[in-house]
Amino acid sequence: MKAHHLSALGRRTEDPPISWLLAMALGRPQLVSLAAGFTDNKSLPREKVRRLMREILSSPQTGQTALQYGTTAGDPALRQLTSQHLCRQDEQPASRPAYSPERMIITNGSQQLLYMLTEALCDAGDLVLVEDPSYFVYLSILQSHGIQARGIRMEADGVDLDHLEGVLRDLQRRGELRRLKLLYLVSYYQNPTGRTTRYAKKAAALQLLRRFERAAGHPLYLLEDAAYRELRFGGEDIKSALTLNGARDRVIYTGTYSKPFSSGARLGFGLLPEPLLSAVLRIKGNHDFGSANLLQQLLARTLSSGLYLKHLDGLRQRYAYKARLMREAIERHFPAEVQWQEPAGGLYFWAQLPGRRATGMNSAVFRAALKNNVLYVPGELCYADDPSRRKPNHEMRLSFGGATEDSVRQGIARLGAVLRNRPRGR
Ligand SMILES: Cc1ncc(COP(=O)(O)O)c(C=O)c1O
Repeated sequence: MKAHHLSALGRRTEDPPISWLLAMALGRPQLVSLAAGFTDNKSLPREKVRRLMREILSSPQTGQTALQYGTTAGDPALRQLTSQHLCRQDEQPASRPAYSPERMIITNGSQQLLYMLTEALCDAGDLVLVEDPSYFVYLSILQSHGIQARGIRMEADGVDLDHLEGVLRDLQRRGELRRLKLLYLVSYYQNPTGRTTRYAKKAAALQLLRRFERAAGHPLYLLEDAAYRELRFGGEDIKSALTLNGARDRVIYTGTYSKPFSSGARLGFGLLPEPLLSAVLRIKGNHDFGSANLLQQLLARTLSSGLYLKHLDGLRQRYAYKARLMREAIERHFPAEVQWQEPAGGLYFWAQLPGRRATGMNSAVFRAALKNNVLYVPGELCYADDPSRRKPNHEMRLSFGGATEDSVRQGIARLGAVLRNRPRGR
C-alpha cells in the first residue's frame, strides 16, 4: 500500500537489520546465529534475580513501590549506585560533578538513550561523525532521522586523529560545521571491530572538537558509548572520557546493564550535560515517563548487595573462555588468507575476506552461509552511507555472545566450509 500519509520519519525509516537478525536467530532453531549480540544464556543471573525479586516483593513497602510507576529520570537509588559504580571504575571521588546522579537518566537500554539524545540534538540535514565502521543500529537511527553520518577511519586503538582533524577542516572550509553536532565513539571492545580506544585518543578527540567549536557556533559533543566496558577479559580498565577536563559540559556518557547483567531487563543510563539533559528528560516524559520501576528496583538491589560485581567476575571469565573457543575454531576452519582480530573483551570478532570477496546480504557468501545454517552480520551494515569513500563490503562480525559452546564451534566450522568453497573466477 502507498504510504503518502505517513510522516517524513515514518517514510524514511527503513527496516532495521537488527529486527531481522533477532527474528532469524530466534525463529530458526537449526540456525547457528553468530549475528545478533545476544548475551550468554547459561550465565544469565536467573537464581540471583529470583532471590532478589522475592526480597523486593516480600514486604508491602518495597513490593508496592516496585510495582508502582517511578519517575521519568529513574529510581534515585539506582542513579546513585550507578554513579558510585562509575566513580569507582574511573577512580574518581564520588563528589566529582561530572558523575552526579542529578545528571543521570535511566533508560530502556542504552538504545533508548541514543535515540532520544539524537532526537534532542539533531534535525534532518545535520551531521554526526561516527567510527568507520560503527554500531549499525545507531546508524539506523541517523538514517531514520535524515541525519548524515561521516565515517572517521579507525586504527587498532581508536579513530585516526589525523583523519578526524582533516574532516573537521574540510567541513569548516565548506561552511558545513554548523551542521555538525557530535562525534560518536563506541570506545570499549567496539561493536563491530572489538577495538578499544586509547585514553589519549579520547582526550585528543575532545580537544579537536573544542578547537572547531567557534566555527561551528555551538558545542560539539563527544558521545562515549561504553556498552561493552565491563566485559573485559583481563588487564586494566581504561578511564572514560568523563575524567577529561571539560567533560561535564561536553561529554555524553552512556552505559548499559544489558550486556553485563541481563539484556531482558533492558536497562541503560546516560550522563548528560545541560541543556541536553533537560531536553532528553522532556522527550522521555513523552515516550514513557520512566523505565520499568520493578526492574530498576531489581538492579538497585543487585548493585547494593554486591551481587553485581560477583556476577561480573564470572561473566568475564565465561566470555573470555568463549572468545578462546571461537579463536581456536577460526584457526582450525578458516582459510589462512582470511584476516581476523581477536578481541580483549566484548562479544565480537571482526574478519576480513581477501580480494574484496563480498559478504553482504545479497552476496554468494551470505546466501551460502544461510543455506549452511549459520548467520553473521555483514560488515557493510556497519558502515555509514558516506559518499566520501567506497563502502567496504568484504567483512563480517562474528559474535560468541549468545551461541552455546557447541554452536560456536559448529557455526565457525560451517562458515569455514563456505569460505573454503570459493567458486572459480570469483
Ligand atoms: C554499541 C552498542 N550500544 C548500545 C547498545 C544498546 O544496548 P541496550 O539497549 O541493550 O543497552 C548496543 C547493543 O547491542 C551496542 O552494541
